[in-house]
Amino acid sequence: MGSFTSTWEDRQGLGLTSHPKDDISDSAALPQYCTEVSAWMFCSSQHRCVSSCDPRDSWSEPLYKLTRSSRPVEPGSLHTAMEGSPLEGHSLGLMPWFVAATQILGLAAVIMTGVWMGHYQGGFAWDGSSLEFNVHPLCMVIGMVFLYGDAILVYRVFQNESKTTVKILHAVIHLIALVAAIVGLAAVFDFHSAKNIPNMYSLHSWCGLITIILFCIQWVMGLTFFLFPGTAYSLRALYRPLHEYLGLGLFILAIGTCLLGITEKLLFSIKDTYPKFVPEGILANALGVVLVGFGLTVGYIVTRSEWKRVASPEEEALSMHFKTLTEGDSPGSPEGS
Ligand code: HEM
Repeated sequence: MGSFTSTWEDRQGLGLTSHPKDDISDSAALPQYCTEVSAWMFCSSQHRCVSSCDPRDSWSEPLYKLTRSSRPVEPGSLHTAMEGSPLEGHSLGLMPWFVAATQILGLAAVIMTGVWMGHYQGGFAWDGSSLEFNVHPLCMVIGMVFLYGDAILVYRVFQNESKTTVKILHAVIHLIALVAAIVGLAAVFDFHSAKNIPNMYSLHSWCGLITIILFCIQWVMGLTFFLFPGTAYSLRALYRPLHEYLGLGLFILAIGTCLLGITEKLLFSIKDTYPKFVPEGILANALGVVLVGFGLTVGYIVTRSEWKRVASPEEEALSMHFKTLTEGDSPGSPEGS
């Protein structure tokens, strides 16, 4: 049993004294019972932890599998977690440094775009002139890169907040990102029509429009599946991998689109002097490198399984109990709801 022993004692200290192999009457403690023997499952028909369930039965995996964490349970960590924070006993290592790096890189990208458009390209306006175009890169970098990246990171950064709070924050930051992107798009389309420039002829514009359309679909689907209270848990669990895949994929596509846009703008505005290493060209190149750095750092943080949000035992118990009562099907990951 090793490290599980003190957990068991902790539970006894909390008054949960029945043995995991016994019948369980306290449904709020269900998920923890199955952590006692990591290969066991909580099987609803037998109402206890067993090594295998009937396939038609509803069942739960052990807690450590549900949280998809391969690290061993620290002595006493479940006890501490039961007192509140799902993070206690959960080491985040270097994650705060990586998060700090993303914020430095993200803000640097926004400032560099502002300096490029504000200083080298003459500033901002909403009058159909080239100054209106300058609103486009700035809004796109703020919305589709910086805010988008931060929205992805909230699940890693706010691990002590309730799942619902973090979901709402995730949706709200995405919504602000979408508003910024729409303002940026309106600026470039308005500029094109004022100057009689054809729309949607470049690879950049094609990738950009695909990104925005998929982003809108992803936002509406996320709202429907994860924040709409009537959506079944089984549907949420089914959709979640696609949501995560598309979310990261669109983030990469957005950064790639920015790189295409940067190159295009440089070829429009400093075509002849670009090969001479002029400051504007160097600044724009550096902006591209910073955007790639931001994307790689966000990507690294969200793909580290040990930095994923660990559901608190209360969240586990609630979701498991709710699923067993309402659906009678196999629960998905605790993060999925
Ligand atoms: C994810 C971010 C971005 C998206 C989704 C995006 C999207 C678009 C779209 C849809 C157009 C076509 C407008 C039209 O045809 O009337 C466009 C135009 C343009 N964008 Fe972006 N853009 C992004 C970022 C950037 C950035 C960072 C720059 C850098 C300066 C940039 C530079 C340009 C330029 C020069 C045009 C005009 C030429 C063209 O139509 O390709 N874009 N953008």
